[in-house]
Amino acid sequence: MKALVLGGGGREHALAWRLAQSPLVQMVYVAPGNGGTALDKRLQNIALTDVVALREWAQEARIDLTVVGPEALLAAGVVDEFRKHGLRIFGPTQAAAQLESSKAFSKDFMRRHGIPTARHETFTDPELAHQCVNQWGAPIVIKADGLAAGKGVVVASTLEQAHQAIDDMLGSNRLGVKLNQVGACVVIEEFLAGEEASFMVMCDGVSVLPLATSQDHKRLLDHDQGPNTGGMGAYSPAPVVTPEVHARVMREIIQPTLDGMKKDGIVYTGFLYAGLMIDANGQPKTLEFNCRLGDPETQPILMRLKSDFFSLLWSATAGELDRLGVDDVLWDHRAALGVVMASRGYPLSPEWGHTISGLIREASDAMVFHAGTAWDGYQLRTQGGRVLCVTALGRNVQLAKERAYQVLKQIAFEGQQFRTDIGHLAIRSTRKGNESARP
Ligand code: AMP
Ligand code: GLY
Repeated sequence: MKALVLGGGGREHALAWRLAQSPLVQMVYVAPGNGGTALDKRLQNIALTDVVALREWAQEARIDLTVVGPEALLAAGVVDEFRKHGLRIFGPTQAAAQLESSKAFSKDFMRRHGIPTARHETFTDPELAHQCVNQWGAPIVIKADGLAAGKGVVVASTLEQAHQAIDDMLGSNRLGVKLNQVGACVVIEEFLAGEEASFMVMCDGVSVLPLATSQDHKRLLDHDQGPNTGGMGAYSPAPVVTPEVHARVMREIIQPTLDGMKKDGIVYTGFLYAGLMIDANGQPKTLEFNCRLGDPETQPILMRLKSDFFSLLWSATAGELDRLGVDDVLWDHRAALGVVMASRGYPLSPEWGHTISGLIREASDAMVFHAGTAWDGYQLRTQGGRVLCVTALGRNVQLAKERAYQVLKQIAFEGQQFRTDIGHLAIRSTRKGNESARP
């Protein structure tokens, strides 16, 4: 069989690496891939990113199965395009991908179908937004949307910070008077207290199969400080997702979401990722949905997958996930932890083009997944914000962490930055004796 992975980040390197280990697979193509997928003889990069060009190439190359990594291709309708031409592809359609691509769609969807999430209101008028903040009080969350979207998310612990965030995002002055930012809007959200977790499942349109649980670290710096990033590290399993929490997430969030989509006339196929906030009583609420796997969560999750990944994706694209029980999918009982090495300047303006040295060959308990790297035939260079995700297995999160940092210490490139505390929440809760996470 021939498989095609769409995308070029660390998540896609992990997808392709796992697929290539299947005895059913002769070749895995990665479009466009990165330096890591270029260097692996079992993988071949294809320099295409356009939806129609990818479909034409897949037809010509007689690809048996395609799996989509990034959201942008899903939002551009790559699944619809491939299916229209009879190609087998795992991912949600363009309509289903709105669950991630439009915050307004997903919040409205959750409200209509009773899926637990933070209360929210959307504003374009600064004065009304300031009034809302005064009414709801702090802490409160201000999210940029529409034309203000680049300005991010502010978790404001004081009213002062919240008012400032509104002014920054809506381009208004301290009295809330608008200064020509037509089309900008903010979402004001209730603050949810608790611990975050990433909960990912596979859906075939009828049945759903949960993957191993995970947690990522979104902030750039140690102690969860600094700006938000795509993720600076992750580990699996997540101790906060106890068997009870797991059952609640499936019952209260995942199943109602798939049922709600069906009621709205959309059949959901593909990976579904619920970003959760779990409070002290174990009540999970949805922070956001993603219609894809997480990056870097995929790297530790796939490091732990022992079942044949190609067969899993084949079943999922044949509508046969119901034949597999949760216990048929085998996970390494060890923990896995990945540390992201990023370029100087990430996330705002990462530097590119530095030589990378000290990479190890794959070991039985460690793997360096590439993201922003390029191989020119002679040298491996940095070519992106997040460069590598150094991932390792260990008997527990602490040991996986020690092994990952041991491998990381040998790697070097100019301007490298990484966090030194990946896994700190899991290590703390394991010390408290909470090791009952599943799987
Ligand atoms: P988002 O871009 O919406 O995923 O938010 C980025 C980060 O902001 C999340 O990972 C949380 O850490 C935090 N956050 C977002 N919404 C909330 C909320 N309603 N309550 C508490 N923290 C939040
Ligand atoms: N690591 C978070 C994400 O993939 O969205």
